[in-house]
Amino acid sequence: EKGGFGTFMEKEIHDQPKAVEDTLLGRTDASGRLVLDELRIDPEELKGISKIIVLACGTSAYAGMVAKYAIEHWVRVPVEVELSHEFRYRDPIIDDSTLIVSLSQSGETMDTLMAVRYAKEQGARTLAICNTNGSTIPRESDAVLYTHAGPEIAVASTKAFLAQITASYLLGLYMAQLRGKLFQGEIEDILADLHKIPGKIQEVLDGGDQIRELAREMAQEPSVLFLGRHVGYPVAMEGALKLKEIAYIHAEGFAAGELKHGPIALIDQGQPVFVVVPSPHGRDSLHAKVVSNIQEVRARGARTITVAEAGDGDVVDYSETVFYVPETQPLLMPLLTTVPLQIFACALAAEKGYDVDQPRNLAKSVTVE
Ligand code: M6R
Repeated sequence: EKGGFGTFMEKEIHDQPKAVEDTLLGRTDASGRLVLDELRIDPEELKGISKIIVLACGTSAYAGMVAKYAIEHWVRVPVEVELSHEFRYRDPIIDDSTLIVSLSQSGETMDTLMAVRYAKEQGARTLAICNTNGSTIPRESDAVLYTHAGPEIAVASTKAFLAQITASYLLGLYMAQLRGKLFQGEIEDILADLHKIPGKIQEVLDGGDQIRELAREMAQEPSVLFLGRHVGYPVAMEGALKLKEIAYIHAEGFAAGELKHGPIALIDQGQPVFVVVPSPHGRDSLHAKVVSNIQEVRARGARTITVAEAGDGDVVDYSETVFYVPETQPLLMPLLTTVPLQIFACALAAEKGYDVDQPRNLAKSVTVE
């Protein structure tokens, strides 16, 4: 049942090309238009939405942060992302033109369920992105978009995360299509690039030995930092969470721009810092700014490990180790840049002899508030 792998987590990391492919499957018609009939929500209603609030916890909340970047860019509707357990306690502004998008692998996370119930009482429309058919959150929501990652057994979420990001892109593109915010040709181009992602994830998986080797070498590190920007920021947070959860190492993810506002004081001789580098083909000067962040931490003694797009030569001089991922659209990069960080955490935890699938103190689905 572990598909020849030693742990469910390894198997699930390797299931990711299929998880993304299956989540994309059957969601376009013969003419290439997105059809999300299963949503059970009136397209007219989706056209009238004035604000989206994404609610989730843990890894699912990082998928929600990626969703914000994509949906705001494509649909031009404001998107807030909030941890489910914080949401109800801040007196949020909600009305019937607010769409709540919940992200939950299990569909049973009590914090998220309670937040969705609260939003419904306030008159919001609710849409669940969920990996578990017939679970409570989608049952109680107006609409549902299922991720098709298949059952996820390991406590640390991997393939469900990539599937949630994929489904969020589909939702964004569908709303952009409904509201005429992107040309049909643009939507088709993005979908074509999404369909190429599973093969590219496979390429990253095929290069896994380099990452596992580094993990073995770094098993005794007491602390690891992760930096990212734009969609690389939630990826950095996710890389840190994976290490905390299964390898019990102190790890923190930061927005790279925040470095000089405090965290750079943590950098000392030999401190490992992973940097998720934006595409050199992305917007504005983000890439150059992150490259200069790598230089800054390295100048203070950090051991820099970068995850960069294939062909990005600018990082080489400042990185002890570079993991290259294939090129794709800048907004789609998290589907690739996350994978080396998952492999790293999994291999490091295994090296330390920990139970990768059942980390201490954690449950797969958190059904208490
Ligand atoms: O089932 P959910 O997606 O609602 O779960 C949310 C979090 O509890 C979950 O993502 C948790 O952070 C994982 N252990 C992360 O690996």
